Amino acid sequence: MPVVRPAAGAIARRLPRGGRDNETNHTLKHFIFVLTGAGVSADSGIVTFRGAGGLWEGYKIEDVATPMAWKRDPALVWRFYQMRRAQLPAVQPNDAHRALARLEIEVRASGHGFALVTQNVDNLHERAGSRPVHMHGELARFLCEQCGLSHGDLTDFRTDAFRPCPKCKFPRVRPDIVWFGEVPYRMDFISEALASTTIFISIGTSGAVDPAAGFLKEARSRGARTIVHSLDEPGNLSSRDEFLPGNASEVVPRLVDDLLRSLS
Ligand code: OAD
Repeated sequence: MPVVRPAAGAIARRLPRGGRDNETNHTLKHFIFVLTGAGVSADSGIVTFRGAGGLWEGYKIEDVATPMAWKRDPALVWRFYQMRRAQLPAVQPNDAHRALARLEIEVRASGHGFALVTQNVDNLHERAGSRPVHMHGELARFLCEQCGLSHGDLTDFRTDAFRPCPKCKFPRVRPDIVWFGEVPYRMDFISEALASTTIFISIGTSGAVDPAAGFLKEARSRGARTIVHSLDEPGNLSSRDEFLPGNASEVVPRLVDDLLRSLS
């Protein structure tokens, strides 16, 4: 199957040419950018996308994760995401999520900059205490294509009943998920944060989907220290990166301890 990629966020074109915004401070000593993918939630029991037993083995991306699929067969797309939403109350954050929440709190408290950007649509980072940027959207939210309302709701996991928009009453809201062919959320913030990054950490992502796959190269080319953790070597790994293989719930807490020691 061809690799389908979301419309590139055109990171290079969007990078600021100097200046600063309120969310990223170029004068800080360090700015830590953490990018997470499905591997950080694997130890919580959420299956990853690629590889043996991955979600994309049982489904075709083109059938359930594109705007065309929603247009062609909304019932199939709805069922797919309702089943994934229904998993959320049954899973718990693991030690990797908790370690990243601790990293965020302690890094901010010591005056450094921090951003946690996740490709994951589960809610385990926030349940562990982080404030993630969900660049691919959230299973816990719906989006109305009629009036544009995005609203959070984690009730009613029926797979056979669409839901109306609570504001404009349009009969069928969609999952607030960024599908292939759509532009990920918060790309402006992400570009600003990457421009400030001194330490870039990639966790549990295969590096197969743009634009997120390009963040590592971007940070590397700007001279940031680059740390990559995953079970298998991701496709975008370079010999200049520090690669830490293993399971996220074991490796990430150690990594966070080491980082916090080095920053103090
Ligand atoms: P993938 O399924 O492509 O990759 C998961 C990565 O996690 C792989 O590198 C695995 O080696 C690693 N991994 C698996 N188990 C792990 C564990 N216990 N600890 C640490 N690492 C582990 O998932 P993503 O890279 O997140 O997009 O996929 C990116 C995007 O592709 C997703 O956000 C989704 C998908 O199609 C959309 O749906 C738009």
